[in-house]
Amino acid sequence: MKEKIITKKILKWYDLNKRTLPWRKEVSSQKKQYYTLISEFMLQQTQVTTVIPFFNRFIKNLPSIKSLTKVNEKKLIKLWEGLGYYSRAKNLKKTAQVIIKNFDGKLPDNFEELLTLPGIGNYTANAILAIAFNKPYIPLDGNIERVLKRYLYLKKEKEIQKDNLTQKKTIFGTASRSSDYAQALMELGALICKPINPICDQCPIKKDCKSYIKKDFSLTKRIKKSKDKYFILKVYKKDQRYLLIKNTKFNFLKNLSIFPMKELSNPKNFNENLNLKMSNMNMNIKIQYSKDNQKFPSSYWMDRNKLDSYMLPSFTKKVVQYLEKN
Ligand code: ADE
Repeated sequence: MKEKIITKKILKWYDLNKRTLPWRKEVSSQKKQYYTLISEFMLQQTQVTTVIPFFNRFIKNLPSIKSLTKVNEKKLIKLWEGLGYYSRAKNLKKTAQVIIKNFDGKLPDNFEELLTLPGIGNYTANAILAIAFNKPYIPLDGNIERVLKRYLYLKKEKEIQKDNLTQKKTIFGTASRSSDYAQALMELGALICKPINPICDQCPIKKDCKSYIKKDFSLTKRIKKSKDKYFILKVYKKDQRYLLIKNTKFNFLKNLSIFPMKELSNPKNFNENLNLKMSNMNMNIKIQYSKDNQKFPSSYWMDRNKLDSYMLPSFTKKVVQYLEKN
């Protein structure tokens, strides 16, 4: 394979500058596949530095796909607590079960089959094919997107659409070291081509970078509108304890402990007390203190002095924080 000059420059830079990350360890190909699966799920919505200790603890407790299929819900959630977006953990276990059942215990090495696995979309399939299987794919994550936008000076709304970026990423070429190359591009975005104050002096491809030439590093973002949602949240308080319920009603935070809540579809004159963002929701929350003795199924009194001993999603912790400040 004849590599482009840009590919060679980026790989050379990576060899000298890459971070030592636990999922980059030299291991057997089977372990590499498992490590890639776990790390890519964790990295879907969480930063590298946060993921590292969670990844290490996860693979220590669940060292193989087989062990992941057998983990109980409580332990799985505990291992994920702090990373948020728990649906990822549940999808990860389901994916492990499908791999054992339908793919002979081996992570598929092609795009179509990877896409059938719960929690694996276009990006993660690209990342797995490149990183775990050394195939010439380039996963367009936030880091690589930024490098591409700056390198080609793509700023207009039309230019920064996913479809256009997917076409344009071919300028990076491909490498026989595809696994390293995908990570090299991510690393270049994370360490050099940072969102603010990029360190262009140290960039291996600055010479041909249109943003560097123009001395304009500003970026435009795709407009992603989060949906406004409205909730009434009930607070029952007894001494130092709050009533929490197991959430079986909402699609977010499924089966986790939340304050009793109900969603309003089109409220008039809604005066929220609290505004929290979750996934693509902008949650407007009105808090009502309540005394009525309504019985809630699967409820319990959470002692706020022992907050850390409960498995609580950060959403619930933020509500507690708010209640205690106000
Ligand atoms: N972000 C997503 N996947 C990553 C990886 N393998 N290394 C660093 N950052 C990442």
